[in-house]
Amino acid sequence: MTTYADSARLVMERCDILGGYSEEPDRLTRRYGTEEMRRANAAVAEWMREAGMETRQDAIGNLIGRYEGSSPDAKTFLLGSHLDTVRDAGKYDGPLGVMVALACVERLHARGERLPCALEIYAFADEEGLRYHTAYLGSSATAGSFDLALLAREDADGIPLADAIRAFGGDPDRLAESARRRDELLGYAEIHIEQGPVLEERGYPVGLVSAIQGQSRIAVTFTGEAGHAGTVPMWMRRDALCAAAEMVLAAETLAKGTVGAKGPNAAGSLTLGSLFVAEFGAPITGNPPFGGHPPYIENFLATVGQLTVEPGASNVIPGRVTLSLDVRHPDDKVRVKACQNLERRAREIAGRRGLRLDWRVAQETATVACSKRLTKLLRQAIESQPALVHTLPSGAGHDAAIMSQIAEIAMLFVRCERGISHSPAEAVAPEDVATAVEVTERFLALLAKDVAKRGAR
Ligand code: HGY
Ligand code: MN
Ligand code: MN
Repeated sequence: MTTYADSARLVMERCDILGGYSEEPDRLTRRYGTEEMRRANAAVAEWMREAGMETRQDAIGNLIGRYEGSSPDAKTFLLGSHLDTVRDAGKYDGPLGVMVALACVERLHARGERLPCALEIYAFADEEGLRYHTAYLGSSATAGSFDLALLAREDADGIPLADAIRAFGGDPDRLAESARRRDELLGYAEIHIEQGPVLEERGYPVGLVSAIQGQSRIAVTFTGEAGHAGTVPMWMRRDALCAAAEMVLAAETLAKGTVGAKGPNAAGSLTLGSLFVAEFGAPITGNPPFGGHPPYIENFLATVGQLTVEPGASNVIPGRVTLSLDVRHPDDKVRVKACQNLERRAREIAGRRGLRLDWRVAQETATVACSKRLTKLLRQAIESQPALVHTLPSGAGHDAAIMSQIAEIAMLFVRCERGISHSPAEAVAPEDVATAVEVTERFLALLAKDVAKRGAR
């Protein structure tokens, strides 16, 4: 009999293999629609077939493996996560969930067992949005909410998304056929590394996800005038990078807030953060859980992760700069107001410096609650190992958030080392992966009972 430790070892080996499919020689980067994604899909499809699944690739390029249920007209339960990565990624964000799901099907297959429902594993083709600066291309096609306007969007090499879909073997004119119908589905579950420090700090190998926090991604472009670094006097310049630098700090200040704080960042002054709190009444916490920071707006996060500076030479005044802005808060109203606040701030910066501002919302995802019914089953699956139940919200976005448009969702987090993710230092313990396989297997058994009781149709 295959032990959970054996299955976990295989999951780890497969994550290592997938970690080798990278566009860059010395680090892991696997964007949507690339040759490396094709190789990753091919490897996973092979493992799926060995586990008794039928495989197909849909019109956007999601790889899907299907394990039939005991009755041909039974509904389908979906498991999944993504196979694309961020730049310089770790090996587990995405692939771990696909590999744990696969391990569970493999175990069913080895026992010759069928459930009263079909199981499908989705290996989503794009969740991170690295190539086209918009996340969830894969799951939004599955949920039937793919925005067709995105097809014209170009990547850094000027390749439109429609062409990338075709080159990947998909069909931009038939994306609607990738959409699943709510009435054929019993739900969707995703296993994922936590990507934060909570489970490790509190000593839990796995955790139940209560909700997935919403996010806004905005492309902010300041356009000024390029010029010679040695001749244009400082007072005549319209430097787009200086405006962007102000914007980066405005986002940080707003998110940090320093009302009434003592310390180098506070100085008792009214900051953007405190103005935001005064205006919107967002909660402030006195003692952030990790480290001795000044009080901050609870759970509010703003990040600038990318700057494109044009023309981009050391002796040329930057004429145009685009920065990415990622804004998150569990309360959608607070997030939306924060974005409006930051847009006003960007207009003020551009106006004062004589620049043009382009504020383009690239993506908005609302906060999504996980299904009480499925989460209860997942909780029962964990309770078989006493004292292991811990519930937490997800700060990161996941395909499950999009899948909630067409199905009830549940998520299981796996503890990761020091909470590090979106980094090559990402690490999980094989023992925790074994727990995740065991819990997912029990969850499927409980689901099967529930389906049999309620009828799979
Ligand atoms: O950015 C996110 O939250 C996720 O990792 N895609
Ligand atoms: Mn990620
Ligand atoms: Mn992920």
